[in-house]
Formats: sequence, structure tokens, C-alpha cells
Amino acid sequence: MKLNIAVLAGDGIGPEVIYQALKVTQAICDQFGHELSYEHGLMGACAIDEVGDPYPEATHELCMQSDAVLFGAIGDPKYDNNPKATVRPEQGLLGMRKKLGLYANLRPVVSFPSLIDKSPLRTDLVDGVDFMCVRELTGGIYFGERGRTDDGNSAFDTCVYTREEIERILKLGYEYAMKRRKKLTIVDKANVLESSRLWREIGQEMAPQYPDVETEFMLVDNAAMRIIQWPKSFDVMVTENMFGDILTDEASVITGSMGMLPSASMGVHTSVFEPIHGSYPQAAGKDIANPLATVLSAAMMFEYAFDLMDEGKLIREAVDASLAAEYCTEDLSGDNAYKTSEVGDWLVDYVSKKS
Ligand code: IPM
Ligand code: MN
Repeated sequence: MKLNIAVLAGDGIGPEVIYQALKVTQAICDQFGHELSYEHGLMGACAIDEVGDPYPEATHELCMQSDAVLFGAIGDPKYDNNPKATVRPEQGLLGMRKKLGLYANLRPVVSFPSLIDKSPLRTDLVDGVDFMCVRELTGGIYFGERGRTDDGNSAFDTCVYTREEIERILKLGYEYAMKRRKKLTIVDKANVLESSRLWREIGQEMAPQYPDVETEFMLVDNAAMRIIQWPKSFDVMVTENMFGDILTDEASVITGSMGMLPSASMGVHTSVFEPIHGSYPQAAGKDIANPLATVLSAAMMFEYAFDLMDEGKLIREAVDASLAAEYCTEDLSGDNAYKTSEVGDWLVDYVSKKS
């Protein structure tokens, strides 16, 4: 098969972790006889520095013409510390999500047997955790009207959801639940927010169409608690944009390290595969960041964008083997840590030796 991908490395540790994922992707293509071609595009703070736009039109066109997008991370402290900046790297990411119509963000939360003792939770709570968070990605408070009053002393952000947006993401949640353990948890704040009441109303309408799926409605504060109290109770969780952002950061640490969780964003145009962690600017250029979330995002790319399941599986196998061999970066290994690039080399070696 011919794989034609866009690579957006972004800022901070983005280029380093992307490079490892590309090495592994190339090794997989060599193993399975696929032809990989890729092109880099500018995105984030580096794109602002170079062309004044965090998601330049040229990058958008590249994404539109590609079969999949592999994305690192964006963000730079010089913007985080300047609330008055008018152009921000994050606008690039949000712009890309909107323009590519990526309304569904899939974030699998899976515990890794070799990392059980790295979890802040007790082993019996975290062993066997396996749920999928389906986060709505192009609506809600991230995209509603926002602003300040003229005197600057009052600010607002609006959370808007339409029936159509809610229905399509809930439908996806149900479809994943059908393929898994047939339980869907719809997370909202229906005791306070009108937009959440619409989510719940539509969820109640749709539930009877999926009689094999157990539908559970849960308030977001309760869900935050349950993720640490009993994470194994979840199968598929579906929620709106900002709740999903917060809950998946919480969920990522229970599996041992934030550097482990991949994601896939899908919708109308080309799908995007990216780690859920940020650009970790303190570690940029030091060759210490954990590349596994990005490598696992490449696994999701093979599976979701190309339907190449064996290829994705071999990447997961390589990652599991590296963890079992304790060939890990410092977030997991402390004193005996390996470099980002060494972990990438180890994975390439594992994949290449497979016959
Ligand atoms: C994420 C990130 C983004 C988000 C930021 C960088 C805008 O935290 O992908 O989870 O909030 O969606
Ligand atoms: Mn986030």
C-alpha cells in the first residue's frame, strides 16, 4: 500500500518524539512492504515565528491532500505567559480541528502491565483498565463566542452545542460501545448547564436504538472521581470538548505516565494522530521525552486511517516489549533512563528483526 502522510512536528519536544514515530513507521512499512512518503508542514509557535500564522494555508492544503496527519505537539511558554498575545499556537490546533472537521477525538486509556507499579493508584484498581474516551472536538466552549467588555474587567466564553453535533458524536460513542463491552457512559453537567441538558435529552432519545448497550449518564464531577476510584467501571465514555480535555489528562496519569497516551481525531476530512501530552518545553532538545505516546499514535494511524491492523499490532507489541525490557525514558525509569532517540532505535530494531 502507498501511505502518503503529512507530518506536523510542532513545538517543544514535538520534533523529537515525531522523529521516533517516523522511524518506527518507516520500519513497519519496510517490514510489510508498504511505500511511505511524507512531507513536513509548519504548525504552532514555530509557524508563527516563520510565517505569522499558527496553521498556515499551505499546511492545511498539505493535510487535505494527505491520507493521514501525524502530529507532535504545539505550545510555547512565551505565549502561555502572555495573556495579551493576539496570535497563539493553540489557535493553530483549534483551526486545524475545525477546518479538517475533526469532531471526534478518540483517547484510549489502557493500563500497561509493565507499568502497573508506576501508577499513582493501587495495583488492583489500575490492573486491567481499558476504556475509550470519545471527546467531542469541534464544538462547545472552545469554539463559542468569547470576549471582554469595553472596560476589560468582565470576560465571557460561551458553550454552544447543536443537536446535529451531539447526535453524531453520541452515535460514534454507541458504535464503539457495540464493538467493545457494550457500555456507554455519557458525561455531562446536566444539573447546571443547559447545553448539558440537551446532551442528556438526546442521549435519552438515542439509547433505545441501542438496546444491547447499557447507557449510563454521569455528571462530570462524579466522573472525575470515578476515574480514580474505579476506572475499570468504564468501557466507552463520551463527552463534550472541555470535559473530555480535562478528564483525559486525569485518566492519562493513572496508566503510569502522561507520555504513554495516544489519540486519533477523526471527522470529515483527513484524520490526525497525536499524543495527548503537550509540548513539554522544559525538555525540548534534551532527548529525554517519552516518545511512546507518539509511537502509539502512529499505531492508531495504521489501524484507523489505513485499516492495517497487523501493522498497528506490531507497534504495540514493540512498545510492550520495550517496557518489559525496561528500556524507557526518564519519566518511567528514573536513574536508568534511556534517551528518546535510543528508545526509538530499540523499537526500530525490534520491528526490523521480526520475520
Ligand atoms: C489537547 C490540548 C489542547 C486542547 C490545547 C493545546 C488547545 O490540551 O489536545 O488536549 O485543549 O484541546
Ligand atoms: Mn488537553
